[in-house]
Amino acid sequence: MEKNKLLELVSEMTLEEKAMQMTQLVPDMLYHLAPANLTGPTRQWHFTDRQLQCAGSVLGKSGAAYLKKLQADYLKDARLPIPLLFMADVIHGYETILPIPLAQGCSFDPELVEENAAAVAREAAAAGLHVTFSPMADLVRDPRWGRVMESCGEDPYLNGQMAAATVRGYQGKDPGEKGKIAACVKHFAAYGQPEGGRDYNTVDMSRGMLRDFYLPAYREAVQAGAAMVMTSFNTVERVPSTCSRLLLDRILRREWDFQGVVISDYSAVEELMNHSVAADALEAGEKSLHAGMDIEMMSGVYAASLQNLLEQGRITQEEIDTCVIRILELKNRLGLFENPCKDADEEQEQRLCGCKEHLELARKLALESMVLLKNEDVLPVSAHAPLGLAGPFADTGGLFGEWSYMGNREKTRTLREALEAVYGTQLVTAMTEPFRQSPDVPDSVEEALERFRPCELCIVAAGEPEWQTGEATSKTNLRLSPNQEKLIHALRNAGKKVVLLLFSGRPLDIAPILDAADAVLQVWFPGSAGAYAVTDILTGKYNPSGRLSMSFPRNVGQIPVYYDCYNTGRPSLDPENRFCSRYLDCPNSPLFPFGYGLSYTTFSCRGLKISEDNTTASVLVKNTGSRRGETVVQLYVRDVSASVVRPLKELKGFRRIALDAGEETEVTFRITADMLSFYNEDEQWGWEPGEFDIMVGLDSEQIEGQRVYLSPADLP
Ligand code: GLC
Repeated sequence: MEKNKLLELVSEMTLEEKAMQMTQLVPDMLYHLAPANLTGPTRQWHFTDRQLQCAGSVLGKSGAAYLKKLQADYLKDARLPIPLLFMADVIHGYETILPIPLAQGCSFDPELVEENAAAVAREAAAAGLHVTFSPMADLVRDPRWGRVMESCGEDPYLNGQMAAATVRGYQGKDPGEKGKIAACVKHFAAYGQPEGGRDYNTVDMSRGMLRDFYLPAYREAVQAGAAMVMTSFNTVERVPSTCSRLLLDRILRREWDFQGVVISDYSAVEELMNHSVAADALEAGEKSLHAGMDIEMMSGVYAASLQNLLEQGRITQEEIDTCVIRILELKNRLGLFENPCKDADEEQEQRLCGCKEHLELARKLALESMVLLKNEDVLPVSAHAPLGLAGPFADTGGLFGEWSYMGNREKTRTLREALEAVYGTQLVTAMTEPFRQSPDVPDSVEEALERFRPCELCIVAAGEPEWQTGEATSKTNLRLSPNQEKLIHALRNAGKKVVLLLFSGRPLDIAPILDAADAVLQVWFPGSAGAYAVTDILTGKYNPSGRLSMSFPRNVGQIPVYYDCYNTGRPSLDPENRFCSRYLDCPNSPLFPFGYGLSYTTFSCRGLKISEDNTTASVLVKNTGSRRGETVVQLYVRDVSASVVRPLKELKGFRRIALDAGEETEVTFRITADMLSFYNEDEQWGWEPGEFDIMVGLDSEQIEGQRVYLSPADLP
């Protein structure tokens, strides 16, 4: 539709129609049904029939037939030909469920993430969706927060690369193209740093911390073209993101030139009253609109207050029209005025959802996402003797984690089925009861020990229940449940070799059982192809190559523990020096660091060379083991002295490479000014000449560095 026609349409809209265009509800409400499957609290908001007839968008339902009917029913009664926008949480897959995003970050493979996101878009588009509330680009450092599963981890650069790749995969060149959907990056901003790791809790940090660590990944997603941004529930500098003019106006619109649509999180506009920054709904609406909130999700503040606010002169018609025009421009960009159902197509949906090609892509990503944390010569498993299999994830299709509402657990291959296909009757199972309502499994350890008597090695598929990850699942205890720990220790004490598979949406507190396991594979929630991928790794068909996107703490008391920390004035360097930054009862280092992961082969990384002109850093990487494998070469930098404190190291580049046994290759990184830049005390972006450590290695601790002096003349 031409822009002038669109503006004409806006001029024909009543104020009530504009207010409802700026309101997003669940579809059941449009049918006057009690809403089901909500992703937030239900509160009583009264919408008139007339208002419900002109809601601008809906969330949370999909399916080609359903959405085609909904659009038809809606447009049939519509006074103006403005179609509904269909949005949903397609976070890590539609029907083909991918590994959770925290696992995807461990692949260090943005290209494969992008390819999988494109497959997700094909399924979601065929199922009638227009927008997905993804990628979630929140930086995370606290595994007590259950939503770490939705993030690509603790590093700004890795998070940004993955968020941008996901946007490109969903949207392609334009989300209006066939088989593409619009991306809505969230939760803007800094939702991932709630105090105490408690969901929805206060976020408070310096402006410098916000800009250097927590904002970059959202910016990458916006620069990749994300069509929408969703604000976060939390405060930033004592102002809820929902009405933050710092975030929504100064940074998002002016600095980043974002032209798309901003949507609140679920009922967050109304919750400004809980935050005590709005005395009533009127003030909540006024502040949200002034900040530039285009769509209010699942509350009725705009519907109830815009008329009064306008009459009282507290808002302007122009502010309202600006929001409405942005929303209609998004619908126009998606081609909805010409084709209100876009790609909804039952036959395509049937053919694409869960198809072999997508499952194969998901399997590749699952393989690259799993991280081998420990292996004392027990993996890969040879089938020379009976093999035990136990644990709540041994015999279930529940391998998805949260935000997987369209995944088909019944259709998903279980680990037992996948292992039986390889080991046949050699496989002995016991204590494979999946989690039910209880966060622990029944104690049938004695029976399991009896059944495993002939087995030398036992695989324990352990972890946390799916329903204990994701939104509103913060925990203070991250250990495996008592009966899972009891089983692992009992197997060890019975002289069995123990291979521990960890199914979780976060780094768990595994120190209490680490010594009892001979091998530990962090599986995360691996998705629809998870059982295949685990089997490929256990049998040695695939050599594990994942590298941690988030540090594992030694215990909950150590949280937050992350790699890119500051040095402090009293770094803990000399064990004899009492007066330094350390604990009396725990080392400062994590149990497993960011970027860490083992392989069935070994690699060396040596001979760091900085070019004469200081623009490149090269290393020689060799496969020093006996079989082909992949590793991730990582580039870190440190600004040795600057106008503000700078992290001891920051990831600024990575390269995933595959080498045959004995093969050696040179890996070269360009050093750029952007890598060295940060926001100074005046919030000016740039870098300061001086000494820098350029470091390259195979994880954030296993690195070799050189100190160089860099000045503006050196770098482009
Ligand atoms: C939820 C989540 C958000 C999700 C939205 C819609 O509360 O915070 O991530 O996209 O509501 O379901």
